[in-house]
Amino acid sequence: MRSTLLLLYLLLGSYLCLAQWCYQSQNSCDDRCREPTEWYMEFPACGGQSQSPINIVSRRAQPNLSLTPFIFEGYTDVLNVTVSNVGYGALFTLPSSVRIRGGGLPDTYKAVQFHMHWGLNAGPGSEHTVDGEQFPMELHIVHIKEKYNNLNETMNDSTGIAVLGFLYEISPEENQQFNKVIKSLGNIKHFGNTSEVPSFRLTELLTSVENLSSYYRYSGSLTTPTCVENIIWTIFQKPLPISNQQMALLTQQMLFPTGTPMTDIFRPVQSLNGRIVYTSTGTGVFSRPLTLSLCLLCVFGLI
Ligand SMILES: *[C@@H]1O[C@H](CO)[C@@H](O)[C@H](O)[C@H]1NC(C)=O
Ligand SMILES: *[C@@H]1O[C@H](CO)[C@@H](O)[C@H](O)[C@H]1NC(C)=O
Ligand SMILES: *[C@@H]1O[C@H](CO)[C@@H](O)[C@H](O)[C@H]1NC(C)=O
Ligand SMILES: [Zn+2]
Repeated sequence: MRSTLLLLYLLLGSYLCLAQWCYQSQNSCDDRCREPTEWYMEFPACGGQSQSPINIVSRRAQPNLSLTPFIFEGYTDVLNVTVSNVGYGALFTLPSSVRIRGGGLPDTYKAVQFHMHWGLNAGPGSEHTVDGEQFPMELHIVHIKEKYNNLNETMNDSTGIAVLGFLYEISPEENQQFNKVIKSLGNIKHFGNTSEVPSFRLTELLTSVENLSSYYRYSGSLTTPTCVENIIWTIFQKPLPISNQQMALLTQQMLFPTGTPMTDIFRPVQSLNGRIVYTSTGTGVFSRPLTLSLCLLCVFGLI
């Protein structure tokens, strides 16, 4: 009798959740849903060969001279931004007056939204990793080619979307510019809640980036279902600062639709499958001959 009930429960559970996807942290006996390793069952593209995020091996990144600095438009404008709890994160909508070009992109792209990925407090939370290191947070600013009206229209264009990714590392001092964003999350605790972030400037988030012209570039996918492989990824090399206390506030204010804390909202890294990661700076190519000559000096007892 008990096993029949259990079977019924499991069947019902999988039936109710079949069309849903979730992060690993949401899966429990009470809430069965498709976790990242199962996304491809419902969304076949998630099992593709050019998925994101990836681990970036910095010394293998190939320098590419076409990766010039970006031209940012509207990034200094004062915007009224709406933020929503979409069930798997916080989405900040952006107006199409915000644009990027240059940066080795084939077209001008307009902004759609930005969002963050995090763990719990200062624990691992970024999606991309660099030389195996997972950072506490990653910010994604999502742009689409100017001619499209929304993300769906980009699906058959392999360069339809350009995402700028920023990694955050713990610093002893608070990143004051981020406090407006953190505060807004307190207003969208529950799934479906929305709130306004008044007088917001994107550059407030990016002012402490020392060098926006140093970045990695590769072709990948959305990191949430449907996992469509049409993203030109840019990951800036210099991490931005955020304090321990800010990370605690960021990761502990929001809830998943089931009412559990919204933590560990990142997809694990995916296989590179032969893709090349490019870098806008020459660090990869120049460090190797230097290391080699230092080694030769070692061998000959000169150092
Ligand atoms: C932002 O909202 C305020 C108050 O609703 C409004 O006065 C202002 O014009 C808006 N600014 C923009 C850029 O839309
Ligand atoms: C993308 O291509 C598929 C298959 O050709 C087509 O059914 C779909 O309508 C296209 N979608 C868009 C947004 O162009
Ligand atoms: C947030 O959503 C919850 C649950 O739907 C609702 O009860 C609450 O009123 C909402 N709060 C705001 C500020 O919209
Ligand atoms: Zn993202």
